[in-house]
Amino acid sequence: MRRKIVVGNWKMNGSLASNELLLEALLEKISQTIPLDIVVCVPYPYLFQTQSHLKHSCIRWGAQNVAKFESGAFTGEVSVSMLKEFGASFVIIGHSERSTAYCESDENIATKFMMVKKAGITPILCVGETLIEREAGIMEKVVSKQLDTIIEMYGAEMFDETVIAYEPIWAIGSDLAASPEQAQVMHQFIREKLSSNIKVLKNLKIIYGGSVNPQNALQLFSMPDVDGGLVGRASLNSSDFQSICRSAEI
Ligand code: PGA
Repeated sequence: MRRKIVVGNWKMNGSLASNELLLEALLEKISQTIPLDIVVCVPYPYLFQTQSHLKHSCIRWGAQNVAKFESGAFTGEVSVSMLKEFGASFVIIGHSERSTAYCESDENIATKFMMVKKAGITPILCVGETLIEREAGIMEKVVSKQLDTIIEMYGAEMFDETVIAYEPIWAIGSDLAASPEQAQVMHQFIREKLSSNIKVLKNLKIIYGGSVNPQNALQLFSMPDVDGGLVGRASLNSSDFQSICRSAEI
């Protein structure tokens, strides 16, 4: 069985003072023996603080974006080697809040995915459809295209040891999570698509994101192809996040 993973996406939330409380509460609530991977992806300026708090714990940390270049004259960007210096072991790539607001293309996302992987950090690739696309019944086509760009540019092996987060855009921040069945259908589709492109798919995790909360986590995580969750709002509350992590201990 694949080990589950729960990732908190703090988005643009937090302050030194509130992070301190949240991180300390997580350390208190989440024990070393918990049989899953737990990650928090924090805003860049808080990586050092997060590293300082979590370095001796079982909780790992990461970022929510990265530059597609190694270094140089790219004002405002942060490189993968900088993230490594702060012990980041995960990076969220292609979150819809970024691809929509900053017009990030599939090619850009694919380049970032490759850069992160090459640096030995685990990329968490977000894919998902809009409500209009779901209502038109083309959600699998849409997700397929998002994956194809990476397959065409770098090959399906690029997905070894990575995480894909299926995040239907209509479910993010909406209180309307996908049903466990809807998530399962898409996760199975993604796994089968990638498996058909490659002989052995090594340790690919497919997690669900979009309004995961303590009430729906267990049912979502019980689906055979749902390997955990990407959690936004509920990751800002230590009790809710702990409860979601507990639901993944199955
Ligand atoms: P949400 O966000 O849990 O607040 O819906 C999830 C995400 O955007 O990753």
